[in-house]
Amino acid sequence: MTTPTTTDQLIGRARELERVTDALAAGRPVLIIGEPGIGKTALARAGAQALVPPRIWEGGGIATLDWMSYLPFRRALGLPLPDGDASVVADFLADQAEDGLFIVDDLQWVDHDTVTATLLLAERAPGSPRHVLYLTVTTCGCASPPPDSW
Ligand SMILES: Nc1ncnc2c1ncn2[C@@H]1O[C@H](COP(=O)(O)OP(=O)(O)OP(=O)(O)O)[C@@H](O)[C@H]1O
Ligand SMILES: [Mg+2]
Repeated sequence: MTTPTTTDQLIGRARELERVTDALAAGRPVLIIGEPGIGKTALARAGAQALVPPRIWEGGGIATLDWMSYLPFRRALGLPLPDGDASVVADFLADQAEDGLFIVDDLQWVDHDTVTATLLLAERAPGSPRHVLYLTVTTCGCASPPPDSW
């Protein structure tokens, strides 16, 4: 089975896709919440692919590694991250992203540092000269709830 990653492969989600692409085009971060397996990641990927230019870095939390600092961004970039607090890391991520987009998947399993850096990135998106965009995904109805700060 092919995992849908483009708008034409995504079935029956035209309205949701429009909401995602409208928000991203306006420079707003997107949070997709839903039951396990409902198609959150597929919607995120298709929404991101609909952007031009579609430069996408995707990484997500892992239940057994939720203690690991910045794991989603390490997975997304495949690069070591700089030492320093979340603002240093957020600056680095913004430089790496340029005009692209990070997908941070499975937020219910990400570490606190990732939450902080993602919020810093999300806060600076509107009006940012680099036009960094973020699309975040979480799951309800799973073993652990999303972090309180979301
Ligand atoms: N609208 C859709 N059209 C076609 N296939 C879909 C659609 N939505 C989901 N799928 C398929 O269903 C499966 C589950 O989708 P996906 O992984 O996006 O769900 P999820 O909500 O992110 O799941 P999880 O809660 O486990 O993270 C995938 O194999 C995907 O290919
Ligand atoms: Mg998913």
